[in-house]
Amino acid sequence: MTNTFSIAVASDHAAVPERQALIEHLRAAGHTVTDFGSAPGESVDYPDQAALVGRAIVAGEADRGILICGTGLGICMAANKVDGIRAATVHDAFTAEMCRRHNDANVVCMGARVHAAAAICRMADVFLEAPFDEGRHTGRVGKIMALEQDAHVAS
Ligand code: RB5
Repeated sequence: MTNTFSIAVASDHAAVPERQALIEHLRAAGHTVTDFGSAPGESVDYPDQAALVGRAIVAGEADRGILICGTGLGICMAANKVDGIRAATVHDAFTAEMCRRHNDANVVCMGARVHAAAAICRMADVFLEAPFDEGRHTGRVGKIMALEQDAHVAS
């Protein structure tokens, strides 16, 4: 591990053991982790969990976010509604790497009903280690962020 990060982590009730295993893994690797829950046995709504992590990143309280729900889908949709968040659902090392290299993702989302804890930890490591490639990708990511302004005008 070359870089260590301040990481905001949350899950819904579908992913509590996986989140706990991930946090243990990240802390052992030297990262600073803020755990936004949920608590074992507590039923929560994944948009609320996504908002906690997304807002922590936008506020500068964390460098990166990791979100886990059952599929990694709903929590990603919700995270992307927070201005400044680029969240990606990943399924393997390739997508975990490419969401950083091409999309400069600041939040990675995964599904605990799709992947075992060990796979979630591996994908998180790849996400954290991969750089943004910049170059031709910079303008494209800028266009993603510009869509937030369009949304505000439309509403
Ligand atoms: C919770 O049952 C489930 O809907 C949630 O974890 C997630 O998979 C939603 O996208």
